[in-house]
Amino acid sequence: TSAAVSNPTLFFNGGILQGEGVEHATRRIKDLDNVFQDTKVFGKTDPETLVYEVSSFLPVAEGTPGGLYFGLTHIHPGKVGNEYFMTKGHFHALIDRAEYYWGIKGEGVLILMNENREVWAERMFPGSLHFIPGRVAHRVANTGSQLLSFGASWPADAGHNYEEIRKNGFARRLIDKNGIPTLI
Ligand code: 6PG
Ligand code: NI
Repeated sequence: TSAAVSNPTLFFNGGILQGEGVEHATRRIKDLDNVFQDTKVFGKTDPETLVYEVSSFLPVAEGTPGGLYFGLTHIHPGKVGNEYFMTKGHFHALIDRAEYYWGIKGEGVLILMNENREVWAERMFPGSLHFIPGRVAHRVANTGSQLLSFGASWPADAGHNYEEIRKNGFARRLIDKNGIPTLI
């Protein structure tokens, strides 16, 4: 018998992740309590405003050691006050689990924070590649005027710890200062 060559079962075409078992999640203003600093402007923003979408695929059961997630995140352009639309951000629940991000479309900034609350950031653009070490919280802001899309891959047993960031935030914020993304 000859070895079979089959078509792939997963696609990410123009940033859309397709295939059996792909999951989609949306994050709207109403889901992003405690993310933005300007609570006044936040309170006046339509709670249904779409901020970001995540599609993900996991070929094994969640938590399987050695398994890998594949994900695509799309952050819409926009701001709350002078702060760009961004993800909630998290440490992994198994805190030593690392992750890769890579820029696909648009412009953004990856904001990183270690357990000592030291913050640094990297520009994201189509073709940029980012290694996020374990023990480092990660959040992405869309600093452009178009959709920002990035890919991600992380361990199946990483999980998410949103609580730490929800309570204490990142030690620095990325704001639009006279049109320039600035960490303050
Ligand atoms: C993960 C990835 C990534 C992330 C999304 C949305 O560990 O799952 O870092 O898929 O979840 O970009 O960001 P938040 O999870 O912080 O909302
Ligand atoms: Ni992560």
